Amino acid sequence: MAGKMKKVREKLENISNHLHQFSFSVGSSSYVQQVIDERATSPEVVEAEILGRDQEKQKVISLLTNLGNSSEFIILPIYGIGGIGKTTLAQLVFSDIHFKDHEKAWVYISQTFDLNKINGSIRSQFQIEQSQLTDAKGPNVDPPTRKNMLIILDDLWEHSDFKLDALKHSLKTIGNGCKVHVIVTTRDASIAQKIQTTEAYQIEPLSNEICWTIIKQIVSYEDRADKERLKETGKEIAEKCGGVALAAQALGYMLRFRNFDGWVSVKDSGIWNASSSGYQTSPYDNVLASLKLSYISTLPYLRLCFAYCAIFPKGHKMAKDDLIYQWVALDFIKPSDEVSTWQHGENCIKQLLGMSFLQRSKSTSVSNYLLHTFCC
Ligand SMILES: Nc1ncnc2c1ncn2[C@@H]1O[C@H](COP(=O)(O)OP(=O)(O)O)[C@@H](O)[C@H]1O
Ligand SMILES: [Mg+2]
Repeated sequence: MAGKMKKVREKLENISNHLHQFSFSVGSSSYVQQVIDERATSPEVVEAEILGRDQEKQKVISLLTNLGNSSEFIILPIYGIGGIGKTTLAQLVFSDIHFKDHEKAWVYISQTFDLNKINGSIRSQFQIEQSQLTDAKGPNVDPPTRKNMLIILDDLWEHSDFKLDALKHSLKTIGNGCKVHVIVTTRDASIAQKIQTTEAYQIEPLSNEICWTIIKQIVSYEDRADKERLKETGKEIAEKCGGVALAAQALGYMLRFRNFDGWVSVKDSGIWNASSSGYQTSPYDNVLASLKLSYISTLPYLRLCFAYCAIFPKGHKMAKDDLIYQWVALDFIKPSDEVSTWQHGENCIKQLLGMSFLQRSKSTSVSNYLLHTFCC
């Protein structure tokens, strides 16, 4: 035992010497670098690709603005299960012409709630707009009049009454006499109720028809010679999405290169029943089943690459280059004659994005990715 302890001590000393020799400093790991809070979702949206949300967008705008005539400060939560399209709906509202003269801020909150960072992010986004206006008009022009504000707080997970009250209070004071419209997206109806100042809005599931259209877009249905044959099976698969956009995307991605038999095997997979074999069915069952189907239909090396991402904490932003280096170092990705190892790594990232297992995180300098919260 004493011998073993001695060896362990020697090893530790060795490591400690290396630490000094190579000038590694404690706490400067890429992990610390990467958790800097940046906006992981962004207000950008390609409207042409978003289907079936026009009416809901108008509804949300009127819920915000009709009340806004009489009230200076409104928090309207949008709630619904993960992947259903809350962030997308908020993006549509954010970029709507109705708010073109508002000062706007978009803050991605996720699981780490930090009121100082939320406030800092909002204020810096407003200040940028103000300084841009001043610069454009020259120094002798009166400062621009203050505008009404639209703030989106995307993906709120915080339950604590105390913290939510503090958030509410600070949002209220930010307006400084102007109207403040806030949209909060959250999965949790109880969080929505706690933060709301007007009745929270539960986002509707997409229709089966829309889910089928999402799938058709991804599989390039119109260009397929066998499209008539695929139609009925495709529609049945679309029904299994339960109105969840993310499920439709994941299934579409999986079906892209499959033939008719492949589509039938997806439709008839036992996974659909397995997911609801518990005591209670949940709206998540079908989403999880579609992600599980995607997972098992991928090649083993890609499953390894994905599983590796589980070592990072929830909400962690993974830098693309680091991730590829780590996959290569662990021998998950091997060189081939056709593509370089690096291209191979990039392809893995593309595939995981396509399967909706990873999502893009907006950052100014590097490509960062998050595990989709569904996969955490
Ligand atoms: N109406 C829609 N039409 C097409 N794609 C959609 C639609 N709504 C959402 N999506 C896509 O589905 C995925 C999940 O949507 P998202 O808004 O992130 O869901 P949530 O915020 O509820 O988790 C995203 O990739 C988004 O682009
Ligand atoms: Mg979201």
